[in-house]
Amino acid sequence: MAKIGRNDPCWCKSGRKYKTCHQAFDEKIAQFARQGHIVPDHDIIKTPEQIAKIKESAKINIAVLDYVAENIREGMNTAEIDKMVYDLTTKMGGIPAPLNYNGFPKSVCTSVNDEVCHGIPSEEVILKAGDIVNVDASTILDGYFSDSSRMFCIGNVSPEKKRLVEVAKECLNVGLREVKPWGFLGDMGQAIHDFAYENGYTVVREIGGHGVGLEFHEDPWVGYNSKRGTEMLMVPGMIFTIEPMINMGKVEIYTDEKNGWTVYTEDGKPSAQWEVQVLVTEDGYEIISY
Ligand code: MF3
Ligand code: CO
Repeated sequence: MAKIGRNDPCWCKSGRKYKTCHQAFDEKIAQFARQGHIVPDHDIIKTPEQIAKIKESAKINIAVLDYVAENIREGMNTAEIDKMVYDLTTKMGGIPAPLNYNGFPKSVCTSVNDEVCHGIPSEEVILKAGDIVNVDASTILDGYFSDSSRMFCIGNVSPEKKRLVEVAKECLNVGLREVKPWGFLGDMGQAIHDFAYENGYTVVREIGGHGVGLEFHEDPWVGYNSKRGTEMLMVPGMIFTIEPMINMGKVEIYTDEKNGWTVYTEDGKPSAQWEVQVLVTEDGYEIISY
């Protein structure tokens, strides 16, 4: 990165001089880098204008998940969920981000029971009482991305599965408590890991969260098997997802060879995931999409 002069315009496009804008901020980041920490590049630090646009996108994402929550029911097939997501997203002026993303054929991921993530909506997958299903929605509005997911319990769900869904949800709160400027993603990762394992569950290692906003998937990669004080430094303006996949049984997973997408638990036991999109603020965090 070219060195910016004290009197040059700031890289954040505020129009202010660097010395009165982000110079002290950059020096603080550089100090962490000298200590050997992973630090964010400028291109993943969002400006207030970008944050406002991402929030507009998130309004659609939240409305879509609210709409699914109101209408999902026993006997429905997951292609019907896909249609709900496509119809409402486009009606509100957005584009479903999954559609055609790296060849993904549908507008949303619907992952049932032992499907860990990236389930493909299908007329053949009919929701039945006792199922737990993750609906993972992502929206593009005016080029800005939002991404969040929720779990739904269909009819009467066993206490074991209900507890899995609740603990997976609580994992987000446990993680969010660690989101603050000048902390590390590993603080959040370890908190979630420890909480899940204390509850007798495992946390998928291979798939994690991600930076999001200007692209669907940006730096950093966000894992939940990391250690306190490691991984990327969090600074105001970063936006990323927290989306740990919590397995009731063993941690191992595999990907469907036929469709190339759907991830399952190796032992066939259920997995649950909630996803929140979060902004690091000056004094903590703000939820952008949930
Ligand atoms: N929404 C998922 C995430 O949380 C990504 C899905 S990629 C897709 O990162 F192509 F499967 F949609
Ligand atoms: Co995501």
